[in-house]
Amino acid sequence: MRRVLVINGPNLGRLGSREPDIYGTATHADLAEICRRAGQALGLAVEVRQTDDEGELIGWVHEAADARVPLVLNPAAFTHYSYALRDALAMRTAPLVEVHMSNPAARESFRHLSVVSGVADGTIAGFGVDSYRLALRAVATMTEGAPA
Ligand code: DQA
Repeated sequence: MRRVLVINGPNLGRLGSREPDIYGTATHADLAEICRRAGQALGLAVEVRQTDDEGELIGWVHEAADARVPLVLNPAAFTHYSYALRDALAMRTAPLVEVHMSNPAARESFRHLSVVSGVADGTIAGFGVDSYRLALRAVATMTEGAPA
């Protein structure tokens, strides 16, 4: 099965208790399980990781690039200002789908800019945990027929 890495950035480990009116009540563990199951149905072996640390996240992006593993990435607040993350993602060697649970374009103005979008294949935002299901479907479509 093709490997896919789902990476969640800062504060997403707090899902369930974090602003549930915006992010819903599913915990990060629930989200990880949903991603693994959605992956199974699509023939993808999904691994889910979360970190609050920019350096750790960038290390995982390098690891994915070296192994040619597609990424589904919710960069969380790093989306809006981390040029270091963007530069790491620019070195990618496999598909990259940016995801957001909320719709940043409909929120505060500082969330309207993504420094990541320009190096992603596409962005899915605003559908809660379904954003991840849709992103995994996009990865499955993009990698169809390509050697695993
Ligand atoms: C988020 C949106 C970001 O603006 C925010 O900083 C997050 C989560 C989302 O999934 O909707 O932490 O990426």
